[in-house]
Amino acid sequence: MTHVDLSTLTLEQKASLLSGLDFWRTKPIEEAGIPSLLLTDGPHGIRLQAEATDHLGLNASPATCFPPAVAVASSWNPDVAAKIGAAVGQEARALGVAINLGPGVNIKRSPLCGRNFEYYSEDPLLTGVLASAHVQALQAEGPGASVKHFAANNQETDRMRVNAEVDERTLREIYLPAFERVVKEAQPATVMSAYNKLNGVYASENPWLLTEVLRNEWGFEGAVVSDWGAVTNRVAALAAGLDLEMPGRDGRTDAELVQAVREGRLSEEQVDVSVRRVLALTARPAPAAGEIDVEAHHVLAREVAAECAVLLKNDRAALPLQQNRRIAVIGAFATAPRFQGGGSSHINPIRVDSGLEAIEQLAEARGCTVSFAPGYSLDGSGDAAGLRAEAVDAARKAEVTVIFAGLSEREESEGFDRATLDLPALQVQLIKAVAAVSPCTVVVLSNGGVVSLEGWHDDVDAILEGWLLGQAGGGATADLLFGVASPSGRLAESLPFRLQDTPSYLNFPGEQGHVRYGEGVMVGYRAYETIGVPVRYPFGHGLTYTSFEMSDLIVQVTGKDTAGVSVTVTNTGDRAGAQVVQVYVSPASGSVRRPVRELRAFQKVALQAGESRVVTLELDRRAFAYYDVLQHGWAVTPGEHRVQIGENAHVIVAEMAVQLEGDVTQMVLSLDSTMSEWLGHPVIGQMFRQGLLRAVPQADDPETKERLEGLIRMTESMPLRRVLSFLKVPEDTVAPLLALSRGAAPGPVAASS
Ligand code: BGC
Repeated sequence: MTHVDLSTLTLEQKASLLSGLDFWRTKPIEEAGIPSLLLTDGPHGIRLQAEATDHLGLNASPATCFPPAVAVASSWNPDVAAKIGAAVGQEARALGVAINLGPGVNIKRSPLCGRNFEYYSEDPLLTGVLASAHVQALQAEGPGASVKHFAANNQETDRMRVNAEVDERTLREIYLPAFERVVKEAQPATVMSAYNKLNGVYASENPWLLTEVLRNEWGFEGAVVSDWGAVTNRVAALAAGLDLEMPGRDGRTDAELVQAVREGRLSEEQVDVSVRRVLALTARPAPAAGEIDVEAHHVLAREVAAECAVLLKNDRAALPLQQNRRIAVIGAFATAPRFQGGGSSHINPIRVDSGLEAIEQLAEARGCTVSFAPGYSLDGSGDAAGLRAEAVDAARKAEVTVIFAGLSEREESEGFDRATLDLPALQVQLIKAVAAVSPCTVVVLSNGGVVSLEGWHDDVDAILEGWLLGQAGGGATADLLFGVASPSGRLAESLPFRLQDTPSYLNFPGEQGHVRYGEGVMVGYRAYETIGVPVRYPFGHGLTYTSFEMSDLIVQVTGKDTAGVSVTVTNTGDRAGAQVVQVYVSPASGSVRRPVRELRAFQKVALQAGESRVVTLELDRRAFAYYDVLQHGWAVTPGEHRVQIGENAHVIVAEMAVQLEGDVTQMVLSLDSTMSEWLGHPVIGQMFRQGLLRAVPQADDPETKERLEGLIRMTESMPLRRVLSFLKVPEDTVAPLLALSRGAAPGPVAASS
């Protein structure tokens, strides 16, 4: 890090360090030895602009395009995320990039979000574990990461203004934990603040978010950088904890900071604090160092992509493809693959594998023949009926047909949300027409956001959901189709039957500038499992070419509200494969409504045919806790919590209960506590009841007693203050009980007034 004595810099110079020179660079101060830093987009590659810097990613110099987050999430493997992080870190270093802008860890609240390809999952644990592995590996190479978009940026519609209204428990349990994990485990160099407002305050000007939670609670030590153009009020943003504004605005906002300090609206110490944080980033490599191993990174891109695809369906063992078959490959995506999302993360790939070519290469050695027909045009132009007829003809002459279908960048991208889950109608017609004549139909999907399988799912034999697999996705797909690699991906998001079933349906993307997260913590599988809504394929689902058994589950309490889990996984099939052990917790019922189960630990295990392994996993206190808004902290409900091993979020194959001590929170009573809170209080309840009974003449008389009990039931939800006033009982009558609930020694309890 450049060591600079801040007292040698003028206020103007210091302020100048707090916004960009242009779109991608910070301002240097040469006389003080402060270099300019280069920030570039990513994070599944490096998008370095060759010449003119623009916001659209034009002129980006070539880099390896690895699978984006949607695919990485489906690998359920932090090693995959780490391998990509390390390779991207090496490429960043070779190109002199100090900060790579990602990963995006926003939760997939709705499958319609246009940027879901860039986000990992609907589950915060899966998101956090993978993002943390990515950031740690990337930063170990030298460059820094920028975890984004902090926070509650879960849609593209109106993303620069919309006010996300999210209650605190939902934030703490769903939308913040992935950020929290990355900050605590990986100390990212920067966190990028989101465009949107959170509960009425712009995220980029939100002191609760940027300082109280991020720094004071989680211990973030890096710099907060704005999303590009997210700053509305520069002075408020700095005061809230936003250090670096990007891109620069020709020094206009630097001057605003200077003026605010001069007028006493902002302290110079606050400016200094942010300057130190930005200077700390200069420890990141500036001069380009090392070479990109283009070949090795392409091989790696193919290897990791094969771990990401999810085999959704495989009837009659359609896959892997057998030897000596006549194969028809159909679909424009087979020759012009869709392998990454559109927008600021778009990488200019070094090279791109065509699925068709990769299939042809593997087919030859296996005695298979391959024919091809495009089946549809990517822009919907041309003679659709003619293209379809040609494809049907090819399928009729083949023994197995592989259809490449999916979404193009016209249908999904950063900047807008989708309006439907459907595949383009022409592709659905094609799939149905081909499946009607083909003896065996396999569909390979390329899409960044969930697509509906309805209307054609039952017509085909196998579906391989490839998401977007990066530049070597074509090769990886061929490896999976022929069984060179065994599918091992699992869904990181649920596949619903209908858009109307999605939990955010009534509140997405909001209206009139507001989006209310009305479904609360019930996001994705948490909602489907709790409400009992069937889905086409649940979170965690994914088939392999082998079979697994999970047995001998042991769950032991290891401390106060922690547990250890051990389970034996056996590959019972006749080929190698990988199983993902998914541990869910179904919590004890308590004072807040909880999802019926939540993913709390997982591990992917690769096993040879016949091999067994004991997998052990730890469940910490947070695995059982909910966020208690009254206590302002995490709380564990005392009692029985069930630890479940899931094949996926819906199919539980083993479970064991543990008794946890939990947090017995002693309620402090007040005159605003309701009658039922007074009567239910573990210490005072009984005394209070007796006091009430003593206040009534002939309370022992059975009839009076019954009337009295009825009266008590009727007043259960009334605050005591109201009851006392109706009964004309002075409030200080209950003073000794109030003192007792605050922890004072019991005193005489008034019987009546
Ligand atoms: C995106 C960020 C991106 C930045 C720079 C913004 O519009 O939201 O994710 O890093 O632009 O391109």
